Amino acid sequence: MKTIIEPFRIKMVEPIRLTTREEREVILRRAHFNVFQIPAADVIIDLLTDSGTAAMSSEQWAGMLRGDESYAGARSWYRFESVLRELTGMPHILPTHQGRASERILFELVGGPDKIIPGNTHFDTTRANIEHSGARAVDLVIDEGRQPSSRHPFKGNLDIEKLGALIAREGAERIPLCIVTVTNNSNGGQPVSLANLRAVRDVCHRHGIPLYLDAARFAENAYLIKLHEPGQQQRTARQIAREMFDLADGAMISAKKDGLVNIGGVLLMRDDDLAHRADNLLILTEGFVTYGGLAGRDLEAMAQGFQEVLDEDYLKYRIASVKYLGDHLTEAGVAIVQPPGGHAIYLDAAAFCPHVPPSQFPGQAVVCALFREAGIRAVEIGSVMFGHVDPDTGEHTPAPMELVRLAIPRRVYTQSHIDYVIEATVNVFQRRETLRGLQIIEAPPALRHFTAKFDEL
Ligand code: F0G
Repeated sequence: MKTIIEPFRIKMVEPIRLTTREEREVILRRAHFNVFQIPAADVIIDLLTDSGTAAMSSEQWAGMLRGDESYAGARSWYRFESVLRELTGMPHILPTHQGRASERILFELVGGPDKIIPGNTHFDTTRANIEHSGARAVDLVIDEGRQPSSRHPFKGNLDIEKLGALIAREGAERIPLCIVTVTNNSNGGQPVSLANLRAVRDVCHRHGIPLYLDAARFAENAYLIKLHEPGQQQRTARQIAREMFDLADGAMISAKKDGLVNIGGVLLMRDDDLAHRADNLLILTEGFVTYGGLAGRDLEAMAQGFQEVLDEDYLKYRIASVKYLGDHLTEAGVAIVQPPGGHAIYLDAAAFCPHVPPSQFPGQAVVCALFREAGIRAVEIGSVMFGHVDPDTGEHTPAPMELVRLAIPRRVYTQSHIDYVIEATVNVFQRRETLRGLQIIEAPPALRHFTAKFDEL
């Protein structure tokens, strides 16, 4: 069968209010052309993020009711711990309320001035937590990873030569650990191969440097390995995921992605002494070591989610659905970051509207057009998010790429919703020369993309 079907049926529905084009015009203007300022009830298809937006299964909801809310040693904790132990083999399992809480604890322990933390591409919050500790975050993704049109199957890979050169230049004693993000969200949700993980592990261990995974999307990475890495086709996603964790000395997981929950995180470690110190920090700001800032019911939902996400039928559908979106847009001539990754499609906005210069935010122009056309909320990952304006000269430094992310929440939208997104994007693309640039009329000094106000030029 060629038709992609969801390997689940729908038991509970949440209505979507279908707005008219006139209503959307008012909504967009009221939000000053910033989709972060639009109430979710005014959005038809919300592709802002795949984080914390998953639909839970009937078994997860049943687990929520079974949740044991005891302060210490709750039944739900033991279930969560045993699922994570089997999945990852890690001896120390710390629950946290989300990914960045794991990051904060880890970098408070290993970061600090003069330290350097290499990675393929650090996610924003990871980088921010590293820098907050005083350390320096260095991205060492392979060159193909920075080229939107390259079809390398593992564009998330870390460049081994660059890693070796960094260690030789800076000294291993300044590098407390190395992080590989799977899949690599910041360059298009691109996977990392097992061969690359083994090579990174070998270089790191030769210099006594621990290897950590940022494993928010570990299951999607495992399935992309199964599809594209030579010799992996006969293995299960679960076996591949276990090998990924076996190669690592620890991991941070935001469970809001492949944990299939709306809130939750995990910090995993092999080092007894480090884990002991992490426990103390966890108690200080998150909660006791058997609940870590979560309710017992959240631990139940996570335990179940981490099992369900490795279901081969689910992963086959998930990866196929994202690829379907990417392939249809490509066929229509829309430039995207190739090949389609695990959780999102990234439109190349610079190619989409070449008549809008980076200083007028082509990505934001596409985001506004998608909302006007069909009530779709996407997010700009370009010069609004990463560009800089010199406060003295007013000179604009653009971001390296002008992208628009269409992140697909897990198990939330059907294939007909995906068809709707394709139709809307292609419609906008066909009259792309009418898209107008924007200017910022008001912005805070940091993280301006959340609250900046725009005007159309
Ligand atoms: N690491 C990666 C690779 C992520 O994508 C995220 C979050 C985090 C860590 C932080 O996890 O949100 O649970 O604290 N990514 C979201 C996104 C926000 O939209 O891509 P968190």
